[in-house]
Amino acid sequence: MNPKMLTAEACDFLKISLPALHKQLKTKSLDYKKSQNKIHFTHETARKIFKLKFNPSCWSWQNLKGGVGKTHLSFATAIRLSLYGARVAVIDLDQQGNFTQACGIDAENHPVLIDLITEKYDILESMVPVTNGLDILPSRIENALLDNLFAINSLPIDREIKKRVNQLKEQYDFIFIDCPPSLGQAVSAASLAADHIIVPVDPERFSLSGLSVTLKELERNVSEKFETKLDIKIILNKFDARTSLSHSILQTLFNDPDYQSRLFKTFVRTSQELPNTVAKNKTIFDSLKNSSAREDIDLLARELIEITRINEAEHNSHENQTSDVVVAI
Ligand SMILES: Nc1ncnc2c1ncn2[C@@H]1O[C@H](COP(=O)(O)OP(=O)(O)OP(=O)(O)O)[C@@H](O)[C@H]1O
Ligand SMILES: [Mg+2]
Repeated sequence: MNPKMLTAEACDFLKISLPALHKQLKTKSLDYKKSQNKIHFTHETARKIFKLKFNPSCWSWQNLKGGVGKTHLSFATAIRLSLYGARVAVIDLDQQGNFTQACGIDAENHPVLIDLITEKYDILESMVPVTNGLDILPSRIENALLDNLFAINSLPIDREIKKRVNQLKEQYDFIFIDCPPSLGQAVSAASLAADHIIVPVDPERFSLSGLSVTLKELERNVSEKFETKLDIKIILNKFDARTSLSHSILQTLFNDPDYQSRLFKTFVRTSQELPNTVAKNKTIFDSLKNSSAREDIDLLARELIEITRINEAEHNSHENQTSDVVVAI
């Protein structure tokens, strides 16, 4: 895989002109490539161009209902964030290992979460590089035993994943957890480790009941039990303007204040490009062509950046205030 950020896209984000960005690339001797008359760059150059600073945060992708897009959306968004210069770590919690496979990694050769818990491997040493700016703790079928391990050994579900996520926060800006379609102990542990939970919803028959059960279970089993507040967000996926089901689910989400307040502004349209690229062990950002998937995932990534970004001006003024205090003392 070879994901790229186009200079035209970077200019749109930075609100600067193409000539101004091209000049920066040249004067700072940054790495970039030109193909099909388009200029593009990867993670390392992105770090120097965007210079974004983040409050490290953990995002757990979950929904009791299977096939709603947890893995495809988290994979594409993780790649996109790395192209804005963010350092992204993914914990694949799903024993199906779909995220791991999308990364082209054979988990047989690597420790997975259950090994970290039983064999005491260090999480930072167990991360596997995927592409510049994205590392993963892979998953395989043995992780199906995590729920039993939590129950039988009475492991502290509020700490077991969280302490590892906290370690990752020392080196990464975003930590994504791709959850299996269940609400067992391991997924509850992921919820308790997360700063934000993203529930993808697709316009299908049982989607709303899947969403409602997921929200109720999170409230009852995690929030109330552990006396903690969860930030739960909803992303509508597989939107197809031609189907009445898509419009009716959108309307339901907008008309219910509890859903509406949690809804991302972005919704992701149905696009064959998402499954097609993953099947070829590529990403939607490998190609230079514009596509709806590219546009939608870019907008979603920007929403995540907006939530976690440290405003440079505020950051500097805080630093100045701190140094003023030191001088005063
Ligand atoms: N926006 C989209 N457009 C078209 N197809 C999509 C889109 N999002 C997901 N899909 C397809 O839907 C299917 C399910 O997606 P995915 O595996 O990401 O769901 P999941 O919620 O992770 O499933 P599971 O619960 O089994 O882990 C896949 O075949 C994927 O290619
Ligand atoms: Mg999945």
